[in-house]
Amino acid sequence: MGKASKDKRDIYYRKAKEEGWRARSAFKLLQIDDSFGILKNVKNVVDLCAAPGSWSQVLSRRIYLPAKEKGLSDEDMPKLIAIDLQPMAPIEGITTIQGDMTSMSKVEEILAHFTDGRKADLVISDGAPDVTGLHDMDEFMQAQLVFAGLTVCTHILADGGVYVAKIFRGKDVALLYSQLKLFFKQVTCAKPKSSRNSSIEAFVVCQEYSPPEGFEPDDLSRVLHERAKGMLQEDAHGNALGTMGWPTECIVPFVSCGGIDAYDSDMSYDLPTYIDEDGVERVKPSLDPVQPPTEPFYKMAIERERAKAQSGKKSAKQLLHEEATRR
Ligand SMILES: C[S@@+](CC[C@H](N)C(=O)[O-])C[C@H]1O[C@@H](n2cnc3c(N)ncnc32)[C@H](O)[C@@H]1O
Repeated sequence: MGKASKDKRDIYYRKAKEEGWRARSAFKLLQIDDSFGILKNVKNVVDLCAAPGSWSQVLSRRIYLPAKEKGLSDEDMPKLIAIDLQPMAPIEGITTIQGDMTSMSKVEEILAHFTDGRKADLVISDGAPDVTGLHDMDEFMQAQLVFAGLTVCTHILADGGVYVAKIFRGKDVALLYSQLKLFFKQVTCAKPKSSRNSSIEAFVVCQEYSPPEGFEPDDLSRVLHERAKGMLQEDAHGNALGTMGWPTECIVPFVSCGGIDAYDSDMSYDLPTYIDEDGVERVKPSLDPVQPPTEPFYKMAIERERAKAQSGKKSAKQLLHEEATRR
């Protein structure tokens, strides 16, 4: 798809470039904030699965830059930590960590930023695994990222704090809701207008962190497992058959975020125009993305091909072409 065509079909892609966001995802966080006020009076935030960094940009613009403007002392400045598997180009006020947030060593690296007694007010996760197309598998992998985020919450989220995480609304989502409800007084399923209707993606907005009495972070797997056990159906031989229906404790409110005047992400919009010096209406040129990928997956392949070309060896493409024309 050409850039102009994508601009037309995806209004949020175009708006992101116009407003200087690295990804259209920025609008998802902004629309969730419109409905839930999650960024209000917030100082310390952990952004899990943050690359290329549009959510971190929102944190920088909404939390870091206003604090800097006020000239706060170092101690009073917000603490904003971001982690991703991919490297991330720097963003003012954001400390970045590269690595797998499901690994304990990386979780410890995040926690190391909170040894001064500070707690996080907000943990956000827009993480998504590489989707396989096998829905059960994708939903399971997505849930693992949600639990990894919950692990971080159990160590550093302040009482009353908020956790926002991307989920896939698959057939076992009820179990996930009920597990999150053990730790938060209010759990809501939020669908920002910038998230396509055709996508099973949504976000859980978990408010008022309040773990079970006497809970210790090391107990997390046991507590989650106990809750799951009560909801799993088994056959006569004890084999798991799946999750039971929808007991009332699993029902959570659903909120569409972004207001009725927000752009519809499933619609095409006309491209913006301008009148040139001859009075002719023209389509404005398409903008380049704000931040090209720092380490794109295709970079290695290009470098390999370039090295081959320089050494006089034939590239894979040339060999395939020769093979095809010989037949
Ligand atoms: C949809 S993107 C996040 C977009 C980001 N919120 C933004 O606004 O730019 C999903 C990210 O999840 C990251 N991710 C997936 N699994 C991860 C893991 N186990 N640890 C850290 N990051 C992970 C991917 O590398 C990818 O950058």
